[in-house]
Amino acid sequence: MTGKPYAAIIGVGRTRFGELWYENPESMVVKAGLDALESVDKGLHRADIQACYFGSFMYQVTNKLGLVPGYISRELGLNVPMTQTEAACASSSSALHNACLAIKSGVYDVVLVGGFEKMTDRYGKIVDDLMFAADPHEFDSGFTFSGLYATIMARYMYEFGRNNEKCRIALAQIAVKNHHHAVKNPYAQFRNEITIEDVFKSTLIADPIRLLHCSPVSDGAVAVVLCKPEIARKYTDDPIYIVASQQATDHVSLFSRVSTLEIRATKLAVSKALKEAGITLKDVNMAEAHDCFTIEECLFMEDSGFYNKGEGWKGIQESIDSFVGSKHIPYVGDGWEVFVNVGGGLKADGHPVGATGVRQIYECFKQMRYEANENQVSVEGDIRYALCHNIGGSGGIANVHILAREV
Ligand code: COA
Repeated sequence: MTGKPYAAIIGVGRTRFGELWYENPESMVVKAGLDALESVDKGLHRADIQACYFGSFMYQVTNKLGLVPGYISRELGLNVPMTQTEAACASSSSALHNACLAIKSGVYDVVLVGGFEKMTDRYGKIVDDLMFAADPHEFDSGFTFSGLYATIMARYMYEFGRNNEKCRIALAQIAVKNHHHAVKNPYAQFRNEITIEDVFKSTLIADPIRLLHCSPVSDGAVAVVLCKPEIARKYTDDPIYIVASQQATDHVSLFSRVSTLEIRATKLAVSKALKEAGITLKDVNMAEAHDCFTIEECLFMEDSGFYNKGEGWKGIQESIDSFVGSKHIPYVGDGWEVFVNVGGGLKADGHPVGATGVRQIYECFKQMRYEANENQVSVEGDIRYALCHNIGGSGGIANVHILAREV
């Protein structure tokens, strides 16, 4: 890598994702936070935590709750600075980005970073609520997020897969793969295998998007403990380092973007992150991609540069067809192989929006330390680099973090 790492990850914790009717936002985030603190190998006192960074999109709306830092202060017994970040589905990766900057700047040595969302309490209304992260013109025209991504998917299929059934199949295969990856993930919302036929038979949500192309409505919380890289070995013999933390932004409205077929914020954040880490895509062994709808995983594979624009679906289809039956199904290309969304991604692990960014870090940390138990991915050699990609809305913001096993 080119510079000093931002931070070391020394502990992680999470709740199960799904319909957690008996939890509230504060209880979930405290559970994940305590789990993360307790997971630190050589022990960590709560008093060592110098600040907390949390991401959540809409707890004010879903649970009529404000000032969550005050609840977390009470539950954790801490009176340290606590910052809460809202960036729609990228809320907790934005919190993480801020925490990385704080540690790298030397302000703090040890911080707790979390993300949470409690969506099911608003069932029926949540789809409208999510539109806070879209342009009001889009909301007033009747769009939902499924509708916005359906616009992207329809345009993609028109431009690149016209009259080609294989393109339609590839965009369904992504859901099949991610459900398959979640079967052995004990925290995942959906642990059932699905078939391409199931996707095409599922309820039409916003043409061409069907229910099984979508991430679900979920509750859940995740937390990670970060420290200054120089002191990491005081807490664990196996720290994982954050060697890139990059953010890029773009228009909130789909209609005013240069193109509906690429997420410019993804392109910018990925290229800056790779440069910062001093690696190329060929070095990346695993990635957590923001698959809120399957088309978005396909766009990620193109916008990050794994496949050329318009050819992602072909690479995806060929890879999934070649590795069908494997425990984890990689995407392959010219001289590279990358496992994407090995715990099921947003599609099957679940998508409590404010928790997703840190959940991606949780997954990579566990996999890189060979602690994923039954769901451990098998890579030739170590998982040296993992890339986490988390976007907000339909692409108004993208955060990309690169984790490394060694620096
Ligand atoms: N994937 C797989 N199964 C799903 C699912 C999903 N995304 N969403 C719901 N289900 C299952 C439910 O578990 C339920 O199964 P059961 O009958 O065995 O209990 C069944 O499908 C019906 O569930 P229900 O809750 O009635 O579905 P719904 O029609 O109200 O909601 C969606 C389905 C797709 C509309 C909803 O999940 C959704 O809006 N997803 C997108 C969320 C979003 O926009 N997030 C932000 C992204 S930017």
